[in-house]
Amino acid sequence: MITQETIQKIMDTARIEEVIGDFVTLKKAGSNFKGLSPFSNERTPSFMVSPAKQIFKDFSSGKGGSVVTFLMEHEQFTYPEALRFLAKKYNIEIVETGQSDEEKAKRDARESLFLVNQFANEYFQDQVWNNETGRSIGLSYFKERGFTEATIRDFQLGYSHEGYEVFTQHALDKGYKLEYLEQVGLTKVDGERKMDRFRGRVMFPILSHTGRVLGFGGRVLRKDAKTAKYLNSPESDIYHKSKILYGVFQAKQAIARADECFLVEGYTDVISLHQAGVKNVVASSGTALTVDQILLVKRFTRNITLLYDGDPAGIKASLRGIDLILEQGMHVQTVLFPEGEDPDSFARSNSQKELTDFLQEEKHNFLRFKAELLLSDTHGDPLAKAKAAREMVQSIALIPDELERTAYIQETARMLDMEERILFSELGQIRAGKLEKENQQRKREERGLKQDEVMKVVEQAAPQLEDDILFVQERALTGLLLNHGETSFNFSPDFDDTNYEEEPSETVEEESICEYILTELLHDELDFEHPQLRSILHHFIKVFNEEERIAKAEEFLRGENPERMHLVVDLISDEPELHDWKRKRIYPPDKDAYLRNYTIESVLRFKEKKTGKLIAQIQDDLKSGKNLNPDALATAQQLTKLKIEINKRLNRIL
Ligand code: CTP
Ligand code: MN
Repeated sequence: MITQETIQKIMDTARIEEVIGDFVTLKKAGSNFKGLSPFSNERTPSFMVSPAKQIFKDFSSGKGGSVVTFLMEHEQFTYPEALRFLAKKYNIEIVETGQSDEEKAKRDARESLFLVNQFANEYFQDQVWNNETGRSIGLSYFKERGFTEATIRDFQLGYSHEGYEVFTQHALDKGYKLEYLEQVGLTKVDGERKMDRFRGRVMFPILSHTGRVLGFGGRVLRKDAKTAKYLNSPESDIYHKSKILYGVFQAKQAIARADECFLVEGYTDVISLHQAGVKNVVASSGTALTVDQILLVKRFTRNITLLYDGDPAGIKASLRGIDLILEQGMHVQTVLFPEGEDPDSFARSNSQKELTDFLQEEKHNFLRFKAELLLSDTHGDPLAKAKAAREMVQSIALIPDELERTAYIQETARMLDMEERILFSELGQIRAGKLEKENQQRKREERGLKQDEVMKVVEQAAPQLEDDILFVQERALTGLLLNHGETSFNFSPDFDDTNYEEEPSETVEEESICEYILTELLHDELDFEHPQLRSILHHFIKVFNEEERIAKAEEFLRGENPERMHLVVDLISDEPELHDWKRKRIYPPDKDAYLRNYTIESVLRFKEKKTGKLIAQIQDDLKSGKNLNPDALATAQQLTKLKIEINKRLNRIL
């Protein structure tokens, strides 16, 4: 865990306008900065950065938050990844707690592996551009393949010399340790002998989605070579081929924008499509598609389109891929290329327009793909049709969302001209079997879970309360706490009747809006229900009680809880509006008077809704015999009394 002090230091040092400025062109607009939203394709800027508040708000997509949220949204970093990124940018040392020396050593070793790979990547590229042999062999190979210089740079392609240890010797001379060179597989060590793994190959670095070098693919140049055409880095602490997608670093932005990811088989497919303008493309190089790879795509989009060769191997890969993708709750389409063509060759032998037209026309959802595959050459054989139906329903049964399953079943019925009822019954049977299996699995897991962990799961599953009117009231109070917590008034009821504009007399006690709200809620023991708003309220209470101060909005902008942060950003970017009052034709004498009334009214409205809800709950429980607490009735009566009183006060101020 990164320590709170480190997080604090990072948040204090990082300037949101600087960090975002690296990704978005920002122009000064008053005290803020403005730019084109990086989350949509807009033409007029509606993306705002506020240096004063250290927040951003994107009015086109509704996203907003701190510098950390921005990195999480834009770069798809996790919270710790975003912190590390900032620490690196601002040269802040990361201090971590709960890390044993062993863990620390492991972490340092991993860093060393990345450094070695980074060094190798720069070296191989340097050979392609600046070394005579590298240029005449490596660069010419890429150019012959039709790669432009821009493409070669974008994908950081390189060249590794012939000769046994040209690279290894160079790395050792530069002070890199043999141990690490061996661990990432750049060097093979056999007793005293050291040997470059990638000899006489053009190099394709494999980057993480954040751009770190995880490993390499190297392609032989000689046609007669007896070794494999492509050689990859071996598995290591930093290279797990089942979790990597080639090209994700170059593609992630385009994937998020297009809300679609093309998935191909090889390095050259990715590069050729990218060069042909289809930039939202990645490859599962060298492995059959895995769940980890699908989840990596899911960070950017829920829509995957498989682009495979139309040969039997390609078809088999598509079928397997389809089911895995559906199971992750994602949408899948397929394009099969004509036999003998792969996306790379197709992109090279056709114009950009022909390519995009082809993708558009040949893109079918998985059902149509399966139907065509299973029914071709069967000449309406009823048995073949039944088999096709079963296989299609089997895929549909994997989809987690019920509405989607229903839609797909209906489409299958139409496509195969079969009765929906029969297909639904088939679906029901498959689902029942699947649910039973999952139940047993869950039971096994639960037995292993500790009690408090079970409770956590139950709490997380608590129903969303967003639609509830209560949410509106809780939100209003939270907005007051965040925006005006420190503003003070005399809240005593007698004061209502005096003319507000008069100076309060010496004896009258003022209290802050924060203190007023907290005291009112604590007095009646009424808590918020919405989990995020409740956690904000509790923070205010804690800080008020323990440190005798009023919490500040910045304290919620640290990103450990993105959902809560979004709420806070929304609340501090739009102040409670006067328009409600205007609509009601009430013109308060001045903003202060309005704010005071608004605070009192908000507290009362919240209490009114909350007590109403508590009473209804108790009544329900009593009716159904669920609540056997003997005090329940008394509590309900007390709450009812409170509610009546609240209503009286509400009527008085309205
Ligand atoms: N591939 C691989 N390992 C191999 C062969 C191929 O990983 N032994 C992958 C590569 O990612 C490659 C893709 O499959 O980009 C396509 O293979 P292929 O067409 O054989 O490679 P090319 O480099 O395009 O070779 P050629 O010029 O002969 O088409
Ligand atoms: Mn090829």
